[in-house]
Amino acid sequence: MLFVTSELAGLAKAGGLGDVSAGLPLALRQRGVDVRIVMPAYEEVLAKLPGIEWAGELPGRSGIPTARLGQVRLPDGVILYLVAEPSLFERRGTPYCTPEGADWHDNHLRFARLSLAATDIAAGRAGLTWMPDIVHVNDWPGGLTPAYMRWDGVAVPTVLTIHNIAYQGNFDAAQRHALAIPDAAFDVNGVEFHGRVSFLKAAGFYASHVTTVSPTYAREITTETQGAGLHGLMQRRAAQGELSGIVNGIDESWNPGSDPHLPHHFDPDDLEGKAANADVIRTGLCLRPSNGPLFGIVSRLVHQKGLDLVAEAANEIVENGGQIAILGLGDPEIEHMLSRTSRRHRDDVGVLIGFNEPMARRIVAGSDFTLMPSRFEPCGLTQMQAQRYGALPIAHATGGLADTIDDGTTGFLFSTLTPEGLMSACHRAFETFENEAQLAEMRRAAMAQCFGWSGAAAEYEALYCRLLGRQPRPVRPAARHAITPAVDATLEVAA
Ligand code: ADP
Ligand code: GLC
Repeated sequence: MLFVTSELAGLAKAGGLGDVSAGLPLALRQRGVDVRIVMPAYEEVLAKLPGIEWAGELPGRSGIPTARLGQVRLPDGVILYLVAEPSLFERRGTPYCTPEGADWHDNHLRFARLSLAATDIAAGRAGLTWMPDIVHVNDWPGGLTPAYMRWDGVAVPTVLTIHNIAYQGNFDAAQRHALAIPDAAFDVNGVEFHGRVSFLKAAGFYASHVTTVSPTYAREITTETQGAGLHGLMQRRAAQGELSGIVNGIDESWNPGSDPHLPHHFDPDDLEGKAANADVIRTGLCLRPSNGPLFGIVSRLVHQKGLDLVAEAANEIVENGGQIAILGLGDPEIEHMLSRTSRRHRDDVGVLIGFNEPMARRIVAGSDFTLMPSRFEPCGLTQMQAQRYGALPIAHATGGLADTIDDGTTGFLFSTLTPEGLMSACHRAFETFENEAQLAEMRRAAMAQCFGWSGAAAEYEALYCRLLGRQPRPVRPAARHAITPAVDATLEVAA
């Protein structure tokens, strides 16, 4: 199976897709499935990976330049193919944006380049001795893959996983020539979406099967309010049994008893370390010492995450004796909004702007509660990480949040997306905080949740089996021995 992605945790990550791209292929490989990943060779990826073996030259097409294909075996044994073209990928910034936060002007070419490389690998035209039996693309950046494969007659089944239907990769219709889109395919039955070229629509239309990252979100994207204009297509795929929801897992390193980033370890029977972590956070963010509850937030700062509700509710949370610790990066307007809130409550609301995984883990470990008033949330990983660390999530009952939080048992869900709705759940949290026995019971239930990748990997494998009519191709026995724990292995060139 070839896993097509624009992010991979440890190398280039902007959000949950990076975590999924690291976790799911590995879990599938541990089940014996032959999985390989393809992603762009961003500057930061090249800097982090020594010993890349350059396999061959990939042809260009129309405005899409040629590229080199590199390969490397990751410490966990998975082979990673890298699509290298300096003019497209070697720049400072995130996978999608400039350091100032603007979309790269040539994102259509950058991710068409990724999609075309995946197509050539699937077609056996990439100079490799390996070909996939399934191609699994993620979100819009890999979206043209199933389309190019169809146009090129590459008869390998394809899966699209939608991690967020709001990001669609829509571009001006005039770009279709540069992207080598046949005229006949610029059609409602093809890549056309409201007069533009849409990468996500293309994948949603041409992929053999569509999945998304929770059963609730799979239903939501068939509705006009949540389908971001693609609800009609999603309804059709659902009616044909070609749309399903599979909840993500989280990495096993989210373990409060062994996480090397935590100043103090803890477990459900000994929570002293958790309180000590809270004090470290208070000191670090210059908050006053307190015995009240600490509400944590680790988030991309985007409209989706509903943090304007937190800004509006902050007064009341603080008046009730709560404090808020926020780590996030994203939209400058949201950064300013949260910074203003923090200035109003210097002793009780702390904001850190940045992307910092050790700090993210510390904040979750020190928090009593985690705020997630997301407007929509396809899956969400933070609420699962939070449960593992006993930071009971307070979340809007939407998407994966509704599927992974047991209201009143492992967290608190609210349905009315207003500051009052959020506060009604916060008041339940304050009451629980006052009731030692109930707090201990909820924390125990939350921390006992198993959110590993094995269940999701089994579901994806079953899907591949269904599409292939047989088991997906297994990893070669010799290569299987290469599975080693990610932490202590060194990188080696793939055999
Ligand atoms: P999304 O993919 O929509 O951003 P998820 O909850 O699925 O939301 O995944 C977010 C992932 O990114 C989690 O692993 C979370 O810990 C991490 N994360 C988000 N913001 C930050 C940040 N500012 N610093 C470090 N990690 C972050
Ligand atoms: C997206 C979604 C998030 C999901 C993640 C990984 O970024 O916003 O809810 O958890 O992808 O699937």
